[in-house]
Amino acid sequence: MFKRHRRLRINENLRNLVQENKLSVDDFIYPLFAQEGHDTKNEVKSMPGVFQMSIDKILEEVEELKKLGIYSIILFAIPDVKDSIGSECLDEESIISRCIKAIKKEYKEMFIVTDLCFCEYTDHGHCGILDLENNTVNNDATLEISCKQALVHAKAGADMIAPSGMMDGIIESLRKTLDENGFYNLPIMAYSSKFSSAYYGPFRDVANSTPSFGDRNSYQMNPANSREALSESIEDEKQGADILMVKPALAYLDIVKELRQTSNLPIAVYNVSGEYAMLKAAKAAKLVDYDRIMLETLLSFKRAGADIIITYHAKEAAILLRKAK
Ligand code: PBG
Ligand code: ZN
Repeated sequence: MFKRHRRLRINENLRNLVQENKLSVDDFIYPLFAQEGHDTKNEVKSMPGVFQMSIDKILEEVEELKKLGIYSIILFAIPDVKDSIGSECLDEESIISRCIKAIKKEYKEMFIVTDLCFCEYTDHGHCGILDLENNTVNNDATLEISCKQALVHAKAGADMIAPSGMMDGIIESLRKTLDENGFYNLPIMAYSSKFSSAYYGPFRDVANSTPSFGDRNSYQMNPANSREALSESIEDEKQGADILMVKPALAYLDIVKELRQTSNLPIAVYNVSGEYAMLKAAKAAKLVDYDRIMLETLLSFKRAGADIIITYHAKEAAILLRKAK
């Protein structure tokens, strides 16, 4: 009788030896939200454990991350002032700039990724300069100011730029601008297949970036399309992306798997706000074993082929992984 599978599950050491995928704290990028002010730390209702923080509080948070062994963060900023083109983020004294510098001053070893977009900075909440005639975002005008924003991040000391606005040609434009300004060693992580998803709902509460009218369907991807996701990703790779990303993660693991078979670049997934909020809500309702479900979810990203996991669970997962050792 065939017994090999059961034989290999018979004790824990053996199970560990034959385990195909492993989670590690090195896989994680932890999102942080910076806001103006001093000594402020507001928890987001739908996302317990996630806060909007003033820069001094962000520094305390970074200290905690270091203790947990988490050395990569992705930074978002929530400005006090918004306008039609998001001018705040084009200023070298922008909140994101000040935040990057403050972290780098005390924690050189922290790897800082910056999300590059305009929806947090525009009064209309869309990801770029509006093209009202066509009821969408003006692609090329947005490319121009995206390059300016990238230089603000780079000059402040960002370690990697992650454009999330889904503008066509953004990778090529950013690469050219960064290279021309001496930042040829600064990698770009492309939000290469970013779907127009309801899973971003809680994030938009944190970042105050809900569009004041319409939706993002004319620039983010249709959740029904997988060939298009590959096409977007291949295009970003050609234009010079260093890392590709699939976002959201959980409902799009088929895309991760296909992309893994198509590209040899590192792949990141963004385990987004709605995915986090669902698990937190299930935990609060005592419906699930939260810790196990969380680790199982994170592991599924590795199994699908992701190398990097951007996740609000990073701190909790780091603690559990440490205990498991
Ligand atoms: C900005 C941006 C969004 C997210 C990351 N960068 C929101 C959006 O596109 O509306 C979502 C992250 C999350 O839901 O956790 N464009
Ligand atoms: Zn945006």
